[in-house]
This record gives sequence, structure tokens and C-alpha cells, in this order.
Amino acid sequence: MPSSRESFASRLGFVLAAAGSAVGLGNIWKFPYVAGSSGGGAFLILYLVIVFTLGLSVMLAEIALGRATRANPVGAYNALGGRRWSIAGWLGVITGPMILSFYSVVGGWTIHYAVQSVLGRLDDVDGQALGQAFEGFISDPVAPLAYHAAFMALTIGVVIGGVAKGIERWSKLLMPALFVMLIVLAGRALTLDGAAEGVAFFLTPDFSKVTGDTVLAALGQAFFSLSLGMGALITYGSYLARRENAGRAALTVTALDTTVALLAGLIVLPAVFAFGVDPAAGPGLVFVTLPGILDRMPAGQAFAVLFFVLLGVAALTSAISLLEVPVAYLTDEHGWHRRRATLATGLFCFVIGVPASLSLGAWSGLTVFGLGAFDLMDYLTSKVMLPAGGILVALFVGWKAWPILSHEIGREDGPAPTWGRAWRLMLCVVAPVAIAWVMWGGL
Ligand code: TRP
Repeated sequence: MPSSRESFASRLGFVLAAAGSAVGLGNIWKFPYVAGSSGGGAFLILYLVIVFTLGLSVMLAEIALGRATRANPVGAYNALGGRRWSIAGWLGVITGPMILSFYSVVGGWTIHYAVQSVLGRLDDVDGQALGQAFEGFISDPVAPLAYHAAFMALTIGVVIGGVAKGIERWSKLLMPALFVMLIVLAGRALTLDGAAEGVAFFLTPDFSKVTGDTVLAALGQAFFSLSLGMGALITYGSYLARRENAGRAALTVTALDTTVALLAGLIVLPAVFAFGVDPAAGPGLVFVTLPGILDRMPAGQAFAVLFFVLLGVAALTSAISLLEVPVAYLTDEHGWHRRRATLATGLFCFVIGVPASLSLGAWSGLTVFGLGAFDLMDYLTSKVMLPAGGILVALFVGWKAWPILSHEIGREDGPAPTWGRAWRLMLCVVAPVAIAWVMWGGL
């Protein structure tokens, strides 16, 4: 039924939806603290090199595979590789809901923090109390689940609307809003006294700090941030019109994602230095350190509201893409109505997220391999399933489906661009070897 398949109404729609998928908690919450604890400027340069070589090639492979087959990941691999390869698609259909389950829990935290900052509850609280409040909140048996439910309901609400009327319409509204908020916040952070030190830390490379771990951190961060390895971009690529230039779209999405990560670094790190906080403070940097910093700024409350709304919006447009993958699978392959597929999958992800949330508090004693449900799901997906998916898509497009996909990198009806051979080399050899090496190091 290719004719009844939905597609994005405009090129901008695809770019904003794919950028919405890429830009998320990974950019704003994770990137600054990973950069902060991995050597600042040296990490940044490594990250940029990886993103624009490996990341871009794998992203283009996903988009090309989706667009050529106009199918969800299972259908896409099946069409060009047969049943055996469809296992690679399956991996993605399973990974999406697994990520969404705990991603939505953190998405719920952003709503809680947005509400707290509106109510002024983060004002005049010292760092230690903020830390205790954060721990207290995430380990509470009830409140985080209510916010998790709210976040999942929003995600379902957008995906149920479909591709053009749901995903595209909301991305077109939310993504520009996100950019404006980021620029306002960066303007604020960069004009703080002492901000220059943070900028210098972030932008001055010190290569003596680069170790094997730094490279691993940069590669893992790049793949998560660009939404690679589980077919989110195969699925979005399947809604991309044939006349569009896939290579240019991939480049735009990669550039937007990287710009947001850089802006997030330029918000958080100058603020951290201006107030003498340790840039390597870890995952609490955004939820604990930042409210403390904002509180000491003029109009800090307004900026705190802005920041947490922004974080929630970024998380929402990413969550949408995680939900869309299984929904596309159920509607394409099993003929389910979008409404039913979205509600069933969303509810399922909510339920799976419950033990993830509880594992941070009430159920913290329940562990497998020493990890609670939340950490286990995070570990399995980002250290095992996403890299495996990345290797598979690179090998598949580079070796198996190359004759069909080689001209997909430009306009579908146009000539293959001259850089096609470099792309193939990346897919056949460089990306699989590099990713396998990262997986090895990570495990
Ligand atoms: N890229 C998003 C972020 O940075 C997370 C995300 C959305 C994702 N869809 C994905 C990660 C698919 C891996 C695969 O927060």
C-alpha cells in the first residue's frame, strides 16, 4: 500500500522532525556533563570529528534505507535483505520501547522541575538541599510515576495524530521555540562574570587529556545524540519525499544536533565556572547544579522555568521518534490502526518504565548484575543494542543493499554524488570496526 503511506508535507518538516528526534536529553542534560568530565575542549574536537564522519554516514545509511523501501525497520530490511536481515529491524523495534520507558521517566522529571520552578520552590535553596530534593523526588514511590504518566500521555497525544498532523506539526512549532530559548539562555550564561573561564575550558583543547575512554565516551555520545542505531531515522526516512536530497537533509540534521549540543555546553559550562562548581559534577549537573546557579542570577526563576520547559520540549520530540518506530511496525506489518498501535505501545512503555522509576527508590534493592532496572535498561540499550544496530545498518547498506541504495544519498531520481565512494568506505569498514571497538571497550 505505498500510495496510502503518509509522508512529511515538506522538506523542512522532515528536517525538523529528525532534528527533534536527535535533539534531546542527550544534548542538553548529558553532553555538558560528559564534555565537562572528559576534558572539555579535547573531547569537543573528537566529538565533532566523529559526528561528521561516522555519525553522518550512519545517519545517511538509515535515511536511505527507509526512503528506498518506504517501510518501518522490519519491512525495510525484509524488502532488501530477506527474512534473516529483518532481525536487524526487529532489534530496533524492541530497542525503541526499551529506551522510551526510562527516557519517559526522565522526561517526567523535567515536567516536575518545570512545575517546581514556576512555583518558586527552587529559589533560595542551597546546593545540598537541592541535591536532597532531587534524590528525594526520584526515589519517591508515587510522584515520579505520575509525571512519567503525564510525559507518556503527551508523547502518545502527538504520535496518535500521525506523521504530517502530529509529528511534523508539533516539531515545526516546538523546534524553533527550542532554538529561541537556547539562544536566550546562552546569552544569559555568557554574560555572567567569570563566564570566560568556562568558555575557555570548553573550547581550548588539551590533548594530554585524551585517553581511550575519551574516545569511547565521544563515540557513544555521538550515536545516542544523533538517534542512530535503532531505526528511528529509517522510519522517518520512509516519510521523506523522493525529490528531496537525503544527503543534504542528513547534513542539516547533524549540524542542528551538534549546534544544540554546543549551545547547551555554552549555557551550562560558563554558568558552572562563574559560580565555581565542578564541571565534572555528573548527571546531577542539570537537575541539581543548574537550579542552584540560576537561583543566584537576576531573574533566575524566569530562566529556570525557561530551561526546564526547554528540556521537556527537547525530550518530547525525541520520545515521539522512539514511539513512532513500533507504531510504524504495527501499522505497516500488521495493519493495526495508528490509534490502537499508539495507545497499546505507549501504555506498554509506561508499564515497563514503572520498575525503572521504582528502581531508583523503593525497589533499589532489586538488582540484576548489580544494576537496577533503570540502569540495566540504559546500559543494555546504549552499550549493546544501539551499537549493534549501528554496525548492522552500516554493513547492510555498504555491502548487501549497496546496488540499490548507492544513488539514494542525493535526490532519489538524481545522479550519485561524487562523495558516494567515501560514504561506502565508511559504511563497509570504518564504521563497523570503530563501533565494534567502542562496544568492546564499553563492555
Ligand atoms: N537522540 C535523543 C537524545 O539525544 C534520544 C533518542 C531519540 C534516541 N531517539 C533515539 C537515541 C533513537 C537513540 C536512538 O536525547
